[in-house]
Amino acid sequence: MKQTVQNLPQEFLSLKSTPAYLFDLDAFRERIQKIRGLLGHRAKLCYAMKANPFLTQTAASCADRLEVCSPGEFRICERLDLPMEKVVLSGVWKDENDIRRTVRTWHGANIFTAESLEQFELLRRISEEEHCPLRLLLRLSSGNQFGMDKDAVLEIIRGRTSYPQLTLLGIQFYSGTQKKRLAAIGKELQELDDFLKYLSSDCGYTAEELEYGPGFFVPYFVTDPDVPDEELMAQFNSMLDSLSFSGRITLEMGRFLTAPCGFYMTAVRDIKNNCGENYVILDGGIHHLNYYGQTMAMKQPFLSVLPKSSMCAGEMIDYQLCGALCTAGDILVRKISLPRLSCGDRLLFSRVGAYSVTEAISLFLSRDLPEVYLWSAARGLIMERESMPTDMFNSPMHL
Ligand SMILES: Cc1ncc(COP(=O)(O)O)c(C=O)c1O
Repeated sequence: MKQTVQNLPQEFLSLKSTPAYLFDLDAFRERIQKIRGLLGHRAKLCYAMKANPFLTQTAASCADRLEVCSPGEFRICERLDLPMEKVVLSGVWKDENDIRRTVRTWHGANIFTAESLEQFELLRRISEEEHCPLRLLLRLSSGNQFGMDKDAVLEIIRGRTSYPQLTLLGIQFYSGTQKKRLAAIGKELQELDDFLKYLSSDCGYTAEELEYGPGFFVPYFVTDPDVPDEELMAQFNSMLDSLSFSGRITLEMGRFLTAPCGFYMTAVRDIKNNCGENYVILDGGIHHLNYYGQTMAMKQPFLSVLPKSSMCAGEMIDYQLCGALCTAGDILVRKISLPRLSCGDRLLFSRVGAYSVTEAISLFLSRDLPEVYLWSAARGLIMERESMPTDMFNSPMHL
């Protein structure tokens, strides 16, 4: 996975207002194009926007689909005026009012997933009441609260002649993220292939498509194995080639596409030595930064010190990098050897394009949300979101 710090815009690298995220739209577009190219015609790409909603508009222009998982995510797509034909409206529970509003507004342009018999019945009823044909993917469970087990999927498929207004496109399956072993993905694909074969032989139902989230691994830490995309995709392609299923395959991906395209900058605000340990206090912290698999801050993510000149200093010092939340757990890196730091130096964390902007505990301590910048060569550096206070979310509405 390539580091692109050197290519980042100077305006961002010299920003004084920290903390801030930068999402590189060109890098994201190139990554989607690269992965599409490596897949050839074997599979299409669906961007799971939960990984980073700020990249959704770019994804809409170069990915085949968008996986949208909540009314809030759907409203983002509406505000951006994105093509509804690309939207797969997923999510374990969909509220009747939300489904009905979507159907009335978009007349079945998007695909829905059905995640239980109950939710399927709701979609069927709304489709009938609104006189609107709908296209559905049936989510097969991987053994948790998401989707349905095989018996429930079979029950829906066996009854398909009684709901002609519904097109059952096929199966959706996602079992989890950060899968280090490609063999685990191969096993899942084989099991899905067997199930699709069974649907055909037992029910006479030929699925048009399989929408599958592989949960590819992203190396976040300096000790993580870093398999080149070309090698990973070549192995994955041979797994796809070995399937009997000849319908359309769409890969739902978030982390793997977005992680390398995001950066987070935070500044050193205090440095102290407590009982022999060098603590650096930053203006950011774990409420902004979230590396999946980081355990007790023991692993070292990819980061650089700005300005770069300070990297040239000979003396290296062991630091503990801490945020400014009121928890001893607000540590970004427990031990890292860096050139001597001064207050005002900035740290640039890489590979934060996935989930940090949405998944971190941003309301804790009512600290402000970081600024968000988008970069593309065509439009330059754009501030997409100002720094925003969060205290009003944590106080009575009338104050
Ligand atoms: C249904 C579904 N598809 C795709 C994804 C994206 O997964 P990843 O970020 O591992 O690619 C998720 C993530 O939670 C998901 O729930």
